[in-house]
Amino acid sequence: MNFFNTYIDPSAASKVAEVLNSTFLSEGKLVKEFENQLAQNYGILNPIAVNSGTTALHLALVLAGVEEGDEVLLPAQTFVATGLVILQQKATPVFVDVNYLDGNISIEDIKRKITKKTKVIIAVHWAGYPCDMDEICKIAKEHNLVVIEDAAHALGAEYMGRAIGSISDFTCFSFQAIKHLTTGDGGLLACQSAETYRDAIKMRWFGIDRVNSSPSILGERIYNLDKLGFKYHMNDYEAALGIANLIGFKNRLQHLQEISEIYENGLRSIDEITLFERKIDRKSSNWLFGFHINDRLSFIEYLKNLGIPSSVVHQRIDKYKVFGGETKGLTNQEKFDNSQIHIPIHNAITVEQANFIVDSIKKYFHEKNSNFRG
Ligand SMILES: Cc1ncc(COP(=O)(O)O)c(C=O)c1O
Repeated sequence: MNFFNTYIDPSAASKVAEVLNSTFLSEGKLVKEFENQLAQNYGILNPIAVNSGTTALHLALVLAGVEEGDEVLLPAQTFVATGLVILQQKATPVFVDVNYLDGNISIEDIKRKITKKTKVIIAVHWAGYPCDMDEICKIAKEHNLVVIEDAAHALGAEYMGRAIGSISDFTCFSFQAIKHLTTGDGGLLACQSAETYRDAIKMRWFGIDRVNSSPSILGERIYNLDKLGFKYHMNDYEAALGIANLIGFKNRLQHLQEISEIYENGLRSIDEITLFERKIDRKSSNWLFGFHINDRLSFIEYLKNLGIPSSVVHQRIDKYKVFGGETKGLTNQEKFDNSQIHIPIHNAITVEQANFIVDSIKKYFHEKNSNFRG
């Protein structure tokens, strides 16, 4: 049993081979088709496919006008990519505490951390479970801030009946190999504003307006560069893999929900486990399934001996030297780091395996408690 899984649809190999045989490898009609499918079937606003979740985040910061001296709020509970892109813009990452019960950014601490220099709030939907978006957007409006959602884990998630990818100024998805929808590597930026979308389309390809820059008689495109651009576009063979993997994606999300419910129902009665909170007004994409326990090491070891991997996945990123070392006063983050653990949830996990995992965890606590008593 693996902790992560890479799902490749059976039709993917021939779809990718078609692109290779065509010799048109770069960004073309399949990238457009991939974007269209995500817009039409998943409610994602103005999608722009790029070559990673990290570049989607960087492009969002550039479009938000983040520059040297600006402060960007983000939770410490994330992957380093969320913080590195802030440094790439020479801006200052300001780490915000999380909610102990879900690992998402704390609204109260956002309010405490806003200064005159704050420009952006980055909300990371940890494990695919949506942050408190109404509250975040309200604070952003009051202080004239831009909201960027790091939805690397959250394709297919919903908040108050709205798709993640349709709510705030920018949403960034990742299609890296172990995400629940993969293009090998890849990402997507969703833009609320149609005008910003037009800029973003140019900026993912050097800043050149591909549509309105036909070649001159001399053979080179005629264009002017008015904005700094990047080489961030997705390729057609990656998009072919993405399109293939969208087949049955909704059913696979449903499967993840089923596995998640088996875990929730099976583990709820165990006193030593504090399940992550799941409010009824939002739907997780269930990329991860996590909870809190004490004495994690013996638990990890016990499951490992039964062939069940478990992982913290990521712990606070502010600890890394590049970010300046641990931010003081992130009390929930500290508690979260000390007790969070995740068990396998992906498309290759069967209902039987999920029940086996639940039974094994019950057995672990039963044995532990009888040893303690005995
Ligand atoms: C929360 C988070 N943000 C951003 C990223 C970066 O995505 P990518 O690897 O596609 O660049 C990842 C992980 O890969 C992630 O887990």
